[in-house]
Amino acid sequence: MPEYIDEYVVHSGPEELAHAAAERLCATAAAARRRFAICLSGGSTPRRLYELLAGPDFARRFPWPLVHWFWGDERFVPHSDPESNYRMTREALLSRAPIPAENIHAVLTEGLTPEASAAAYEETLQGFYGSDRLDPRRPLFDTTLLGLGEDGHTASLFPGTAALDERQRWVTAVIGAKPEARISLTFPALDASREVLFLVAGASKRAILSEIRRGEDYPAARVEPIDRRLWLVDRAAAGDPPDHS
Ligand code: 6PG
Repeated sequence: MPEYIDEYVVHSGPEELAHAAAERLCATAAAARRRFAICLSGGSTPRRLYELLAGPDFARRFPWPLVHWFWGDERFVPHSDPESNYRMTREALLSRAPIPAENIHAVLTEGLTPEASAAAYEETLQGFYGSDRLDPRRPLFDTTLLGLGEDGHTASLFPGTAALDERQRWVTAVIGAKPEARISLTFPALDASREVLFLVAGASKRAILSEIRRGEDYPAARVEPIDRRLWLVDRAAAGDPPDHS
């Protein structure tokens, strides 16, 4: 039986969801008063959260010098490419907040193969962690943000891919699931998070979220962090509350 707490919170809309996520991230990072590792999600949902963190409500409260930034997955495209998760994060957050350059740990996607990129990022993670062996008593990440695809994927762990079975490597190349190669953290690395926040918004996610809530097996449902898995969803994705009449 998993030890972690599984929590599900419904917010009225995407703006309220993003604000709640920013509030939680800022409070957790500030309370830590030590080096703090955040693993970021790609996709479109977290963009507003990233913008809020760099905005007037949070910028002065956030402990920027102590926080290190990683990515849970990356599209294997140049950082200048509109599809790049790094580019989205740079536009929304990295270019607007006083983040030390040495605290930003991007996935390299140019001048090497996808496999070499995955190996290089694994070295980055292990260098930050100080070991190549994960110890559940010492999380790799304090907080990991994840999204939910309509097919139940998270990061670039797509249904039916070999990446789902990877239990040794921390990072892997995912080829063929999407037109562009992907670089993704594996379950061992994602599970080495003290807390995972799933950000799920919009009616397009209602069906998959409902299936996961019913216990159906999808990659996103297999992420099992150390302390807490928190599903932050909006009303459109949550659907109508179950009829208890
Ligand atoms: C990516 C993400 C991916 C994303 C989901 C949801 O690189 O696209 O890591 O896992 O979180 O596909 O994407 P949206 O937030 O755009 O719906």
